[in-house]
Amino acid sequence: MRSLISIFDLSVPEIDELIETAKDIIDNPEKYADKCKRKKLATLFYEPSTRTRLSFEAAMLELGGSVLGFSEASSSSAAKGESVADTSKVISCYADIIAMRHPKEGAPFVAAENADVPVINAGDGGHNHPTQTLTDLLTINREKGKLGGFTIGFCGDLRYGRTVHSLIEALSRYEDINVVLISPTELRLPGNIKKKYLTEGKFKETKSLEEALPELDILYMTRIQQERFSDFDEYLKLKDSYCLDTEKLTLAKESLTIMHPLPRVNEISVGVDKDPRACYFKQALNGKYIRMALILKLLEEAEKDSVYYPVTDFVIDHSLRCDNKKCITSVEQELQHKFRLTDPENGVYRCIYCERQSNKN
Ligand code: NCD
Repeated sequence: MRSLISIFDLSVPEIDELIETAKDIIDNPEKYADKCKRKKLATLFYEPSTRTRLSFEAAMLELGGSVLGFSEASSSSAAKGESVADTSKVISCYADIIAMRHPKEGAPFVAAENADVPVINAGDGGHNHPTQTLTDLLTINREKGKLGGFTIGFCGDLRYGRTVHSLIEALSRYEDINVVLISPTELRLPGNIKKKYLTEGKFKETKSLEEALPELDILYMTRIQQERFSDFDEYLKLKDSYCLDTEKLTLAKESLTIMHPLPRVNEISVGVDKDPRACYFKQALNGKYIRMALILKLLEEAEKDSVYYPVTDFVIDHSLRCDNKKCITSVEQELQHKFRLTDPENGVYRCIYCERQSNKN
């Protein structure tokens, strides 16, 4: 069954096709009004959400389908200890497609391995958020007319921000993009993402938003992710690291595009909302259109029954254990630990669920 767990589950031509479909939906909504008649979307949200869950639901309703689901783990059988695998098998009996958000990294992957219907990752811990990335790519495409040939700055919590991780991974497949990473030292982009997806000479790191602003074509602001900190005092120390206000914006290009996956806390002052460069509310609307295009695609593929998950390029080796406390394997004891040999030269394995590095002991 074809699912969307990581942005790499889609090829670049497929992403282009989704963007074109989303634009066609914007121009001709009536053409799509009955496309998902009698189809059901289940939204399984084990973590808070406003935009992602409601844009998924609005997307399905605008395609003529219907929706069911839950918006907190405490109102599902997870509270009784049901595994993600069992829940997804059961939901496959009631729905044609699943969108899942979960605080543990890799949980939607487990769901995709077990469900009989397509599964969409709607955010897994600090790991990935591929549908936000599709939203961001549609927004960049609509604002800039192309996906490439720009300098983009990511500002805020680059360590825990899953939207940043997924978007940087996605942009690594496009040409002529310079990246500026703006964060406090404690919240820098994880080294493995930097190493794998950024090219020496095409990115730089700074702590100063003011210093970076003049050269940016796109500024991607993010919230400090309070819920991912294990030390609350550390959060308090870092929570006000950045605030984009109208005064700072005088340093920026007239053509700047300001993005934010939202919710914002205090990193963009409301005064900026009136500035024509502010795109974050348009971005939220784009999220509905691209999710409509994605639901259509995955349901079409499901009808063709194209085999995709489970993946098979992994090893089970009892000398390897994933020790990431945020990985789904840390709470679901019966899940087999599976690894991919990502760097044969140095014997580096990565957990297939959360992608954390693990070495043989
Ligand atoms: C983001 C998320 O959930 O990761 N929100 C969203 O889906 N639009 C960003 C965030 O919570 O900071």
